[in-house]
Amino acid sequence: MKVELVIGASSGLGQALVRLSMVEPDSRVIAISRSTLPPFTHPDVQWICCDNSPGAIARAVEALAPFAGIITRITLCNGRLHDHGIVPEKKLEQLDEQSLTRLLHSNTIVPALWLRALIPLLHATPQVVLSVLSARVGSIGDNRLGGWYSYRASKAALNQLLQCCAIEAARRAKGVKLVAYHPGTVDTRLSRPFQQRLRPEQLLSPEQAARHLMQVTAELMPDGTLSYLDWRGKTIPW
Ligand SMILES: NC(=O)c1ccc[n+]([C@@H]2O[C@H](COP(=O)([O-])OP(=O)(O)OC[C@H]3O[C@@H](n4cnc5c(N)ncnc54)[C@H](OP(=O)(O)O)[C@@H]3O)[C@@H](O)[C@H]2O)c1
Repeated sequence: MKVELVIGASSGLGQALVRLSMVEPDSRVIAISRSTLPPFTHPDVQWICCDNSPGAIARAVEALAPFAGIITRITLCNGRLHDHGIVPEKKLEQLDEQSLTRLLHSNTIVPALWLRALIPLLHATPQVVLSVLSARVGSIGDNRLGGWYSYRASKAALNQLLQCCAIEAARRAKGVKLVAYHPGTVDTRLSRPFQQRLRPEQLLSPEQAARHLMQVTAELMPDGTLSYLDWRGKTIPW
């Protein structure tokens, strides 16, 4: 019996991951989301509602304690690019204090709060891949186009947090393999306003993206380091 955990499970990618994982043999999926209404139900999927406040995260992680030793994959999907009043910036004048703060919260702080709660839980877990959905645009080395200040900065900061966490996990939770993961451009609510100029082959369905993530992470072993990988399994420069 193994347990897979999907956090931010109402996301396009998260839902696809839950659907693929739940049909794997001897697998139980725990799906965590702010959403009070599960998008679907299945006997092997347990939905936990969590508003990502520190107290709610602590309670959710407490509920995971009985499964700690058999968790094999954790995927943290939380992330926003646009939302009510948040528009990815094309130039400096569009940089807005509120929008930057809100993106830093959902894309950087929320994953950090989850890591803070999860790493102690996983201290004796023999082997678990913990993937956090980052993005290629969080790469400083790869940034040649500029723009999208808040989203890029929130993902770059996320990557740095993950690097610190990997160093600490190498001592405290040796079975954990940490991954900052770029899923490709996936047909979800997040990418929908930016798909016009894409060729069809540049856009992955959520199911394709979930399959790639499962394939790429299946090959990873705990090695005390953070990997920054794209959906083809290729390393992205920091
Ligand atoms: N789609 C792409 O092309 C693409 C490309 C690169 C990277 N990514 C990354 O992949 C991840 C999943 O994205 P998606 O494309 O599946 O997007 P999506 O369908 O829009 O999902 C949004 C995700 O963000 C969470 N979220 C939304 N508002 C939040 C808030 N205020 N506080 C905390 N969490 C919040 C949701 O969690 P709940 O379930 O709790 O609502 C959900 O997990 C994101 O981190 C995104 O940055 C996506």
